[in-house]
Amino acid sequence: MVTQILQPDAAGIAAAAALLRAGQLVAFPTETVYGLGGDALNPAAVAAIFAAKGRPAHDPLIVHLADARDLPRVAAAVPPLVDTLAAAFWPGPLTLVLARGPAVPRAVTAGGPTVAVRVPAPPVARALISAAGTPLAAPSANRFGHTSPTDAAHVLADLGGRIAAVLDGGPTPIGVESTVLDLTTPVPTLLRPGGVSLEALRALLGEVALGGEVAQGGALASPGLLARHYAPQSELWLVVGPEEAARQWLREQAIAATAAGRRVGLLVPDEDAALLADLAADIEPLGPAAAIEVVAQRLYAALRRLDARHPALILARDLGETGLARAVRDRLTRAAAGRVVQLG
Ligand code: TXA
Ligand code: MG
Repeated sequence: MVTQILQPDAAGIAAAAALLRAGQLVAFPTETVYGLGGDALNPAAVAAIFAAKGRPAHDPLIVHLADARDLPRVAAAVPPLVDTLAAAFWPGPLTLVLARGPAVPRAVTAGGPTVAVRVPAPPVARALISAAGTPLAAPSANRFGHTSPTDAAHVLADLGGRIAAVLDGGPTPIGVESTVLDLTTPVPTLLRPGGVSLEALRALLGEVALGGEVAQGGALASPGLLARHYAPQSELWLVVGPEEAARQWLREQAIAATAAGRRVGLLVPDEDAALLADLAADIEPLGPAAAIEVVAQRLYAALRRLDARHPALILARDLGETGLARAVRDRLTRAAAGRVVQLG
């Protein structure tokens, strides 16, 4: 199969929608990362998504809608809290877990009673979903276990030849995946930090519980599974702690590794890149530490670039847990697969 590259104009959207209606797969841009889209109500298309990604069947998919008014097509019940959240954050990077509606194939929800739903922000994405005339199931458009794609070239690197088309909308503005919030629990529960911050959710809802992997501070409940998520090929270490001490740790580790003949990559903010420029390391500056939006936007592309050069080690510095930094920490913790060093 030759993967077509479609432009995000009326003709490109129409062509992409026709492919989706025919049960084919089309990758498309959202504000977070590119999604691997297929007709969420067509079991064959859903099966094709799992096959193209190499994703295990027990990992459920997010369903994307053009408008919150379409929720009854996929959710069995829409609690009042959804209106509050939708008014504040949709379209946008918030995924809500609700009771699964009968029209949604069980494969989408990995057999479970709940369905994850969101309304993505880019007009191109919503125009595509509207033109397809059906909700789109879309995981991130990478092979299972790889880094999520933030531009069309990343999608082609992972899925070229395996999907019908990619709609090229340029780089995605947020750069890390959506926040996943479970509304089927007594208290709304954060399952994955992402583009909408925990602080913003708490300001609106009051209590928000930390669930699943998040509750364990990124500790791996089932390492065999999670270790493969967001993981580069190189061994990645994340250092958490006071800025000066963490930077000193990066310096010492880089010097020791280099002395041992191991090539080192550094995934760090601009300040560190400047202060560590004397090291014989391959440095990917992520932007100013204070501009966490810039860091998040660049994170996955920088990780891919570093990884492509196959350093023995990638060293990264944590930037805290306020706002989007919580999502950045979560993804780096997963990429580190447990190799997290806590200082001070
Ligand atoms: O930003 C995003 O969310 C991107 C774009 C394409 O929308 N999509 C994305 O999909 O990141 P994916 O499949 O890579 O991650 C979906 C996450 C997984 O952690 C999955 O376990 C969780 O959402 N999820 C999906 N359905 C769920 C459900 N019913 N209950 C709990 N978690 C669910
Ligand atoms: Mg993913």
